[in-house]
Amino acid sequence: MEKNSVWWKEAIGYQIYLRSFCDSNGDGIGDIQGIIEKLDYLKKLGVNLLWVCPLYPSPMDDNGYDIKDFYGVSEDYGTMQDVETLLQEAHQRGMKVIFDLVLNHSSDEHPWFIEAISEKNHPKQKYYYFVEPKNIEALREGKAEFPEAPNTWKSFFCESAWTYVPSIQKYYLHIFSKKMPDLNWHNPELREEMYQMARFWLDKGVDGFRLDAIAHLAKDQSLSESAVPMDEQGLRYDPSKFSNRPEIFEFLVEFKEKVLKHYPEAVTVGEVGGGASVEEALRYAAYDEGSLNMVFNFDHCWENGAYGSLDKRDDEIRTNVPNLKRIFKSWHEGLKGKAWQPIYWLNHDHPRLMNQYGNPAEALASGTMLAGLLLYLYGTPFIYQGEEIGMCNVDYTRLEDFKDVNAQNFYKEHQARYSHEHLLHILRRISRVNARSPFQWTEETPALEMPMNANVSYINASLQEAQEYSLLKSYRHLIALRKELKNLVLYGDTQWYLEEDEAIFTFKKKQEQEELLIFANFLGEEKEVEGDWAGEYICAFESSTTKRPTSFTTKENLQFREKVSVSNKIKLTPYEFVIFYKKV
Ligand code: GLC
Ligand code: CA
Repeated sequence: MEKNSVWWKEAIGYQIYLRSFCDSNGDGIGDIQGIIEKLDYLKKLGVNLLWVCPLYPSPMDDNGYDIKDFYGVSEDYGTMQDVETLLQEAHQRGMKVIFDLVLNHSSDEHPWFIEAISEKNHPKQKYYYFVEPKNIEALREGKAEFPEAPNTWKSFFCESAWTYVPSIQKYYLHIFSKKMPDLNWHNPELREEMYQMARFWLDKGVDGFRLDAIAHLAKDQSLSESAVPMDEQGLRYDPSKFSNRPEIFEFLVEFKEKVLKHYPEAVTVGEVGGGASVEEALRYAAYDEGSLNMVFNFDHCWENGAYGSLDKRDDEIRTNVPNLKRIFKSWHEGLKGKAWQPIYWLNHDHPRLMNQYGNPAEALASGTMLAGLLLYLYGTPFIYQGEEIGMCNVDYTRLEDFKDVNAQNFYKEHQARYSHEHLLHILRRISRVNARSPFQWTEETPALEMPMNANVSYINASLQEAQEYSLLKSYRHLIALRKELKNLVLYGDTQWYLEEDEAIFTFKKKQEQEELLIFANFLGEEKEVEGDWAGEYICAFESSTTKRPTSFTTKENLQFREKVSVSNKIKLTPYEFVIFYKKV
């Protein structure tokens, strides 16, 4: 099954956060024409599968994940004609384009929702979760003054998952923001609506979907109280009430039957947050029984302790390399031969990779090391926009610059106990706004709605294009070489070494007559390690703070390099990333 090569197994993905990628008309908002302008840049980088974040009409409460017309294109971003041009232009360059498909919720400005709240018992309420207050009797009898929510579930965005609509005396469920009412997938009529919408985009020529928040489609329909302890707001944060629940797999089988099966070339990448396990991932994406092609898990995203780090000092935020190894290994071994996997470091919902696991002071070496791991571990990699030039967390000092409902709610939640300065410091460490600042094309690129990071003067794509050695060029070289070595990377057997080592990530890939031996040093210090990997190799790539990245991008060229003998003891320089290659 594994070798059965379909295009998406061998693709190199790139995520575009449309709003801050490239603004073609100078209105301060990235747009579809902007992506078209940059297709050649992306082509040159070597990526060939673009995931474009939501471009649908939206009040932008959650930057477009709150959709008010599933069939349209937001005026902020362009027109349907622009979408068609984008697809055409990308396809002409041999690139595929997948859209973010949001099936879990709509905007509260979607006509369905507006209708639903227009009268006490409107039939469209069945498209959502409308529930009477828990104390409805007491309210009716005039014994209670205020309505009580059906339960104390807390949403992902730091507030109650229930909002009351006084005119109809009902609450509705929203596991994200108030303006994102959850759609009721337990209702077959709603499911049909969503299938029709998915078909619409596939018929338009979109090459598949990144399925937003897909793990949350099914809810605990009993709406029973959670058993987790209550927080200071009187709420209980318990994603198990709305994540990876059994019915979801039935919904997805139906989705496949009614939609996906009819578009065998389309790819689906599900976002399965809420702590999906390897076993659950197999239920989503196993070659035989799964409904999706692959699923993103979040397990490796916060292995530096930044998540929930309100009380931590900066020097307590350190990458836990053994945990990262454990996580990548267990996912790889759990899915190998059974399901395909995407691999990514972080996305638009996280801080920047350079701050999370790299070192901005050694951006070229640490960034190259992280790029190398992403590209040579396994699966279909997704690079997040700006990662290839080492963009960093934002330097914003005003709360209003953190334009994100989650960041704003987080601030409100903790305002009473922490100083303004401290909370801003924490937002610069953990907020997803960090990933959403304007792409740093040139030193002169104007700020968009959000300010440009001041480091644009020395971190930008045009500068890196001009430099002989730059992170951008490392990415290009690593991608080009990886295309040549893809059989080993994708289908080879992995042997893991030094699993408990706190600095070095190392593994071997073997297939038939070929081998790759890879070392990555996460520390800005020299480190000597030992293992039974000795042999004669060709050094296919090396980079560190003391070694300029090499640029051998074809297998053929590798043959002309002298063989080196790698002994069982090896000394790695700071942030060293090295690929040894051997043909036996
Ligand atoms: C996903 C998206 C995130 C969004 C949420 C609600 O997790 O990645 O950006 O806020 O779903 O749609
Ligand atoms: Ca624009």
